Amino acid sequence: MFQEIRENNTYKMFLDGNWLKSENYIKIYSPIDNEFLGSIPAMSEKNVLEAIDSCEKNFKNWKDMPFFDRCKILLSSADKLFENREEIANILTKEISKDYKSSLAEVVRSVDLIREIVAEGKRINGEVLFGDRMSSQTKNKLCIVSREAIGTVLAISPFNYPINLSVSKIAPALIMGNTVLFKPATQGSISALLLIRTLELGGLPKGIINTVIGKGSIIGPIISKSSKIGMVNFTGSTSIGESLSNSFGMIPMTMELGGKDAAIVLSDADLEDAADNIVQGAFSYSGQRCTAIKRVLVMKDVSEKLNKLIKEKVSKLTVGNPFDNCIITPLISDDAANFVEKLIDDAVLKGAIRYTTGKRNKNLLYPTILENVSLDMDIAFEEPFGPVLPIIEVDSIQEAIEINNKSIYGLQSSIFGKNIDKIFNIAEKLECGTVNINGKSERGPDNFPFLGIKSSGMGVQGIRYSLEASSRIKSIVLNKK
Ligand code: NAP
Ligand code: G3P
Repeated sequence: MFQEIRENNTYKMFLDGNWLKSENYIKIYSPIDNEFLGSIPAMSEKNVLEAIDSCEKNFKNWKDMPFFDRCKILLSSADKLFENREEIANILTKEISKDYKSSLAEVVRSVDLIREIVAEGKRINGEVLFGDRMSSQTKNKLCIVSREAIGTVLAISPFNYPINLSVSKIAPALIMGNTVLFKPATQGSISALLLIRTLELGGLPKGIINTVIGKGSIIGPIISKSSKIGMVNFTGSTSIGESLSNSFGMIPMTMELGGKDAAIVLSDADLEDAADNIVQGAFSYSGQRCTAIKRVLVMKDVSEKLNKLIKEKVSKLTVGNPFDNCIITPLISDDAANFVEKLIDDAVLKGAIRYTTGKRNKNLLYPTILENVSLDMDIAFEEPFGPVLPIIEVDSIQEAIEINNKSIYGLQSSIFGKNIDKIFNIAEKLECGTVNINGKSERGPDNFPFLGIKSSGMGVQGIRYSLEASSRIKSIVLNKK
């Protein structure tokens, strides 16, 4: 199945429907134990331009293919992905140090996502509008509204979901008739190449998807000089998203960026349930999720009880090897671990009280709770992307709303409480894309809208929303004689 895409652990690039060797490579090591996993192409400018040209050259045939036939190919690819879920989950676990159970769940979730995208895509047809709704003068006009492909979609995915956050961009783009220029995260590229192979085996014609593999800081500027990109669908950090937005100018963009999701805990909350959700939400995959709970805003009268419950649950979190399905696993890199520790040290220096269950071992950080956190600490507003949770006591709901909205981010928030009227009143005031009531912040189910506002992104993902974002309206007006 995968022998075509690699030779002796040296992976090939997928260019114009062919698996080709590269002139240069990047060695990939596992963040778990530094095991050498393989070498991925570091594509040259010539390769990148060839990939862009291939997308452009093959666009017309693909968009003219009957929708039904495009769907058949995607469904067949989903079957291939499912058949190879364990092998892909195994490499994914090694590549990004995600517990194997979650890695397997990510692959299966992506199979379901493709199938749902096909089903929803078939329901997108269009509508007919009548001119005499606006004025009697235009009664002879009839408008046929449909959706059509955009062109080449640049899909850029992050390290933490190398399959799901690639499928969530690639599948809608392909179904709607676009070609795809695909840039996976460097640490995640091997898993991503296995995904591309399943698309090829599903019957995707040559040149419909082209990979651009290599360091984003090198590949990105080459691509952004091209005028052949029709749309950008990016998931990653806010800083990179902003630079992409500036360099691509007037083309449609969907961006899923950073987050600083707050859990607001009210005085009447079920504290046991709130603590369960907060710990799961903050620490799964060692907090390396955009939708991780990254701060708690708790009413002062229940903070002592809540903190005790949170610490009890954190002390039970499994720490170690992702193949043992531990929740807390080595972070993606030493740099990532250093950044998290820097935020913790800054907080402690400014008066935070640290609770942790163990000492750091290279890029393995034990979970940390920070109490007595004040707004002058960097952790109050920075996104750690690691296993640390700052707890901020508030005197009032208004204060909680103000602190929530003070963040540059606006991805999601959670509210824990019992008085639903009060909760809805708070939810309406929170500056974020999604408010979760009595539940942790999370993407999904994948048919729900998923969006960030402010520095957390632009546009909306989610099955129907992604299909619409990956296409554009075509209106044809008939003037009846
Ligand atoms: P990242 O460093 O921004 O990288 C994201 C992607 O952009 C990678 O494929 C990266 O390639 C590429 N890239 C880097 N520089 C580029 C450039 N100049 N031009 C084009 N592409 C470039 O983010 P990450 O470390 O993978 O993920 C962590 C961040 O993403 C966090 O901030 C997290 O909140 C955010 N995130 C958000 C969501 C969401 O749904 N909102 C989901 C996941 C992650 P390389 O790997 O080669 O650098
Ligand atoms: O950070 C990736 C984003 O897609 C979160 O997914 O399902 O872990 O909330 P989830």
